[in-house]
Amino acid sequence: MIKTLLATAAAVSLGAAAQAQTIGFSQIGSESGWRAAETTLTRQQAEERGIDLRFSDAQQRQENQIAAIRSFIAQGVDAILLAPVVATGWDSVLEEAQEAEIPVVLLDRQVDSSEDLYLTAVGSDLVHEGEVAGQWLVDTVGDDECRVVELQGTTGSSPAIDRKTGFENAIEGHDNIEIVRSQTGDFTRTGGKEVMESFLQAEGGGGEICALYAHNDDMAIGAIQAMKEAGVNPGEDVLVVSIDAVPDIFQAMANGDANATVELTPNMAGPAFDALEAYMEDGTEPEKFIQTESKLYTQDDDPMAEYEARKDLGY
Ligand code: AHR
Repeated sequence: MIKTLLATAAAVSLGAAAQAQTIGFSQIGSESGWRAAETTLTRQQAEERGIDLRFSDAQQRQENQIAAIRSFIAQGVDAILLAPVVATGWDSVLEEAQEAEIPVVLLDRQVDSSEDLYLTAVGSDLVHEGEVAGQWLVDTVGDDECRVVELQGTTGSSPAIDRKTGFENAIEGHDNIEIVRSQTGDFTRTGGKEVMESFLQAEGGGGEICALYAHNDDMAIGAIQAMKEAGVNPGEDVLVVSIDAVPDIFQAMANGDANATVELTPNMAGPAFDALEAYMEDGTEPEKFIQTESKLYTQDDDPMAEYEARKDLGY
């Protein structure tokens, strides 16, 4: 009922204008190459569509995102894009946006609030991403014993929670594969490097580690550097599988330092703006989840060509 009223109000108030003119975007920060590309593409998409995009960088802090959303509401924006740093704690501010009749679209991460509080969420199936990465390892090691170290994303974020679950789902029942260490690297290269250094120390220099699973490519790239500095051969001594498909991981794959990545498209804004446009036009309700593809790339997929195709896209 609330949804129908909101949709009708949006359609009536904007009428023939169809396209939202002013959209607030609360971005998490710039922790990874993937995040930088998402920001670049969102700005490009907005410019192409004549949207006045009001951008706010939360620098990884949920309180900054909540303050930005309140500011967007006070400015009377037509819609809000939110890439939520963590999954919990959004109810109040989403209710405030709903009371102000401003539709909110979630980008790339999920929240645990009622889905009535946002218009739609654009993103990948994060559990599936972890399953694809885990299945690649299962298929690659066969029956060999494999001690895995895991670099988790930001604690409390939906990709960290779901990518862990997905990977564990895939290796379940394969008793030869075991996650022996797991810690957050906060989705950053520095975090990935530092935590990998501590894993290598704790694991007697790394000789017993068979594989690294990193929740994003940036942490994998930091960990690759740590392995090289410790005299361990990434990609050979230690298999490396991660998520995002940023250009630098393809360079690492071409060099033999990384083995596989699962693609997450940084173009979340395109589908989000399309959904908002239809909603503003005539109240068309989008699906609650607009899913993007999760494709596996390995060293067999011409990594240099993939690097070239992505290197100028804002990563
Ligand atoms: O929410 C998507 C994740 O956030 C990306 O995989 C990661 O690189 C980013 O920081």
